[in-house]
Amino acid sequence: MDCVLKLDRLPEKKPFIEGIRRAPRRDSVLSEHDMEIALKNALRYIPEKFHKELAPEFMEELKTRGRIYGYRFRPEGRLWGKPIDCYEGKCIEGKAFQVMIDNNLDFEVALYPYELVTYGETGQVCQNWMQYLLIKQYLKELTNAQTLVIESGHPLGVFRSHENAPRVILTNGLMVGLFDNPADFNRAAAMGVANYGQMTAGGWMYIGPQGIVHGTFNTLLNAGRLKLGIPKDKDLAGRLFVSAGLGGMSGAQGKAAEIAGAAAIIAEVDYSRIETRYQQGWVSKVSDDLKTCVEWAQEAQKEGKPLAIAYHGNVVDLLHYLINNNIHVDLLSDQTSCHAVYEGGYCPVGISFAERTRLLAEDHEAFKAAVNASLKQHIAAIDELSRRGTYFFDYGNSFLKAVYDAGVTSICKNGENEKDGFVYPSYVEDILGPQLFDYGYGPFRWVCLSGKPEDLDKTDAAAMDCIDPTRRYQDRDNWVWVRDAKKNKMVVGTQARILYQDAMGRLKIALRFNEMVRNGEIGPVMLGRDHHDTGGTDSPFRETSNIKDGSNIMADMATQCFAGNAARGMSLIALHNGGGVGVGKSINGGFGMVLDGSERVDRILSSAMPWDTMGGVARRAWARNENAIETCLAYNRDNEGTDCITIPHIADDALVHATVLNALKD
Ligand SMILES: NC(=O)c1ccc[n+]([C@@H]2O[C@H](COP(=O)([O-])OP(=O)(O)OC[C@H]3O[C@@H](n4cnc5c(N)ncnc54)[C@H](O)[C@@H]3O)[C@@H](O)[C@H]2O)c1
Repeated sequence: MDCVLKLDRLPEKKPFIEGIRRAPRRDSVLSEHDMEIALKNALRYIPEKFHKELAPEFMEELKTRGRIYGYRFRPEGRLWGKPIDCYEGKCIEGKAFQVMIDNNLDFEVALYPYELVTYGETGQVCQNWMQYLLIKQYLKELTNAQTLVIESGHPLGVFRSHENAPRVILTNGLMVGLFDNPADFNRAAAMGVANYGQMTAGGWMYIGPQGIVHGTFNTLLNAGRLKLGIPKDKDLAGRLFVSAGLGGMSGAQGKAAEIAGAAAIIAEVDYSRIETRYQQGWVSKVSDDLKTCVEWAQEAQKEGKPLAIAYHGNVVDLLHYLINNNIHVDLLSDQTSCHAVYEGGYCPVGISFAERTRLLAEDHEAFKAAVNASLKQHIAAIDELSRRGTYFFDYGNSFLKAVYDAGVTSICKNGENEKDGFVYPSYVEDILGPQLFDYGYGPFRWVCLSGKPEDLDKTDAAAMDCIDPTRRYQDRDNWVWVRDAKKNKMVVGTQARILYQDAMGRLKIALRFNEMVRNGEIGPVMLGRDHHDTGGTDSPFRETSNIKDGSNIMADMATQCFAGNAARGMSLIALHNGGGVGVGKSINGGFGMVLDGSERVDRILSSAMPWDTMGGVARRAWARNENAIETCLAYNRDNEGTDCITIPHIADDALVHATVLNALKD
């Protein structure tokens, strides 16, 4: 096995294909010494004989793009997740991960494919193309007695392990506490030692915007049930949902709103993203005229028909129009990339998208000031709509934190800082947390590695068969979801499916699929999940925002989830800093599990799948979340002799209150 990148000659420089989106210049404040290190770091992938030619080229990338991507090492043409048999490899997992990586970098899937960004403005597969080539080189040689270690995109090497060990263990952007902040992260990323993996970008488990549609659909529908009084068997017909963002994940909003029956207006400043969503059929109408957008929405509401409208413009302008024209909004949110608010994730009102890109590159301080001013106007408009009866929720994009960072302390519950949370809920706090995560329902997914649509059909049918729609309303929602999944045309990239399931639901489906692989009914399958789940993520502004025992600032759960999945033999395990909310604000992890039809895989699934989810439910139960306690009591009953989850005693609120009050009086 080669321990350096095999490179007989330098690949030719290639032109960038017109029309493929490019990442803006990234922020990097480097000293002269830092720049030298950055250059040496990039050159360590390349034989010395090429350094003279490459050094100025890499330096130019650092100067103009803020990072060294090594563009000339990108393979020519379109990358895409091909059928697994097209890949070389000495073990099935080595080939399967190549499918997943290439899918994450597909022009049709990725946000900025040349910069290895899959989604979420900054979420990268790895840092540069030299790493990409070296990772692939290792994956081709990897055997089932070895584990490949990836640290922030860099393949550290292959180490001996055993058949039941993970084939890949990867981490992204994990920083020592003192340096765990955006400025130090940006410096480290510019020097080529830190990768922002987001969630499934650096975890190689992205399945296109479909991955988030089911969660967004669940959020909207359950928001309607909880806040608008919509009965459990009805949808959002006649209701108006307003939000912003039609990018990687946010692009799911229109589709999810239509599946949930609503009329939706989604603002988007970047026309190229609107075009993508329109071509995919993920939004149905497009206009840059506010009056037209509102008329379309009102017509759809009157007729009770679903309709997703893209408004080409700034969300703040949209909200001002709705206020000034007294239009009632039922549900309101935002999915701009506020986790990277000063890196280009949020476009300030009053400037065009092109102007935002120029300002970002030329005057970062002026850009920051414009973002802060815009966020202040944005939250004032939300306050006004809320006073008029709109239900607003933060969509896990760090919007409220960004508003707070812009200097608006009135959104803090304690009026001073973010420690006690914000006056508006995060969608997890009110909706996904209590209704789904506390039961263990989360974004289980799979990819049919054969690339055959008929395999996906067979797995859809098998999954539907595994669900009892009469058990809980969540099961009925999930059953209907997978029944209609094909009709809703959600596949972008590999033949993949998202399906919210609880712990035992996931296990049942996983074992069924593995049996189907064994019987030759379908080709191999990659199982995984988003990090945005019950157990994989500690994120006080999002996934763990409904944990109220003070432990929402701890990262033990995500770390244990990762370690436990390694111990049980998942094929790939990932642990990241930042996820969907930004550096220092979350620790999150995911997994990949290759179903090869073997009994060995059955055994791994039987212990790893329940652990991956129930570790999270157990922690939620210990935080006294009622639905999680109920779920853990049932789990203990059903799994007596093998598993036992600790259950809390519940103190009487009045007793605790009086005791503390008395103590404070003394
Ligand atoms: N709720 C969830 O389940 C969930 C899941 C994943 C990610 N997220 C978060 O949602 C955010 C969006 O993710 P993404 O992958 O779609 O990112 P993205 O960067 O691909 O898309 C965001 C879009 O917002 C647009 N935009 C920015 N400012 C705007 C403005 N003022 N008005 C109108 N449009 C504007 C951008 O042009 C961009 O297309 C991220 O912060 C991400 O972490 C949420």
